Amino acid sequence: MTERHEVPEGRAATGRRRSDGFDPARSPAAAGFPVAPDIDPEALRRRALDALVSARERTALLTDSVDDGELTAQHSPLMSPLVWDLAHIGNQEEQWLLRAVGGREALRPEIDGLYNAFEHSRAARPSLPLLAPAEARTYASDVRGRALDLLEAAPLHEGGRPLERAGFAFGMIAQHEQQHDETMLITHQLRTGPAALTAPPPPGPVDGGKLPDEVLVPGGPFTMGTSTEPWALDNERPAHVREVAAFHLDASPVSCGAYLRFIEEGGYRDERWWVPEGWAMVREHGLEAPLFWRREAGRWLRRRFGVTEPVPDDEPVLHVSWYEADAYARWAGRRLPTESEWEKAARHDPASGRSRRYPWGDEDPTPEHANLGQRHLRPARSGAYPQGRAPSGAGQLIGDVWEWTASDFLPYPGFAAFPYREYSEVFFGPGHKVLRGGSFAVDRVACRGTFRNWDLPVRRQIFSGFRTARDA
Ligand SMILES: [Fe+2]
Repeated sequence: MTERHEVPEGRAATGRRRSDGFDPARSPAAAGFPVAPDIDPEALRRRALDALVSARERTALLTDSVDDGELTAQHSPLMSPLVWDLAHIGNQEEQWLLRAVGGREALRPEIDGLYNAFEHSRAARPSLPLLAPAEARTYASDVRGRALDLLEAAPLHEGGRPLERAGFAFGMIAQHEQQHDETMLITHQLRTGPAALTAPPPPGPVDGGKLPDEVLVPGGPFTMGTSTEPWALDNERPAHVREVAAFHLDASPVSCGAYLRFIEEGGYRDERWWVPEGWAMVREHGLEAPLFWRREAGRWLRRRFGVTEPVPDDEPVLHVSWYEADAYARWAGRRLPTESEWEKAARHDPASGRSRRYPWGDEDPTPEHANLGQRHLRPARSGAYPQGRAPSGAGQLIGDVWEWTASDFLPYPGFAAFPYREYSEVFFGPGHKVLRGGSFAVDRVACRGTFRNWDLPVRRQIFSGFRTARDA
């Protein structure tokens, strides 16, 4: 069974496969990927530098906030030791930026296998002869210094090699590091013991938090995916037109308070609401609430980054599997939105007929638009971020919680694997469900209106929530 974040790990493997025959210049997508017709190469260079620097600052925060014993411990069999993620980040950067882009020799060829996510399961990683914390930090920092030298001189123009064009490889590596930072934040959530991380609370709702319960998204065609976003990944491409019938969508993600009603009304004890695989999971593991929740003296508490607190009624529910989201929706007389519906609600502008990069427009996310980048360690309450709302009126589509959709992870028409099949293609099929919108733990470089995440329907340790829909 694939584990959560074997996914991004898979996205970044591996030099070994490349030496087995991958040639970026001969990739099937080389002729048209990526395309960034209007972006100045120097602006892209600055953007790549900023993205790499801010990813490394976050990696340092996540790995300097615990001692060496905690860095090398395995806090959950679902996760790697933090020190594995740290050296893996450096190793992927070395393979893609120093070797594939820069044509350099391997700095430490003997460690490639240790940090290949396809070679060792997470459960097996603590027993590998991993680099010690100080060694892993030095290695990652050495690679980074050389990568920044390469970035300074790399030709990022349209006629360049596909990996370098529009700075794609640099953007891909910044996204990869941020995805591992999210993985490491999940490890922080799973570890026991006192809090190692703190952050201020996110902003509260405005206008009394009064959003309608749901918004109407009109029927008709819209453009899904992208052919122009320079660092969009292969699975987001190409842009194509989809017909989506009118539907109603929750204006905000489902709250803990609403989810509590499902629990209190026996949702976890009633087979009617569950697909057979979900019901089997509930029975096998005795599930009765989201992960990290427990009932004590008649009230529900949850553990959040080392702190136990009452479940907050008005915050989006977090740490639910696809099966739980699907069961809740059925209990509520509704359903999960399809991936097309989600993206239409988030991007389609009925006034212009075009799809925006983000719900609020084409501008990159700011702290006023969305709860992203681990600035806060929890989702914001419903009604926050009014500047981030979509033309449909729906709020908090970007940031806060990953949102499960009804859809399987499948290629778009015209999909071409880039830079290698293990990035997305090997995960296509009915086994993985798509999540959209990113969470508070996702950085803006790894979050777009078109960004697609995927995971197994049983997965609960991820920062996952959902919203529901109904036909119009
Ligand atoms: Fe990875």
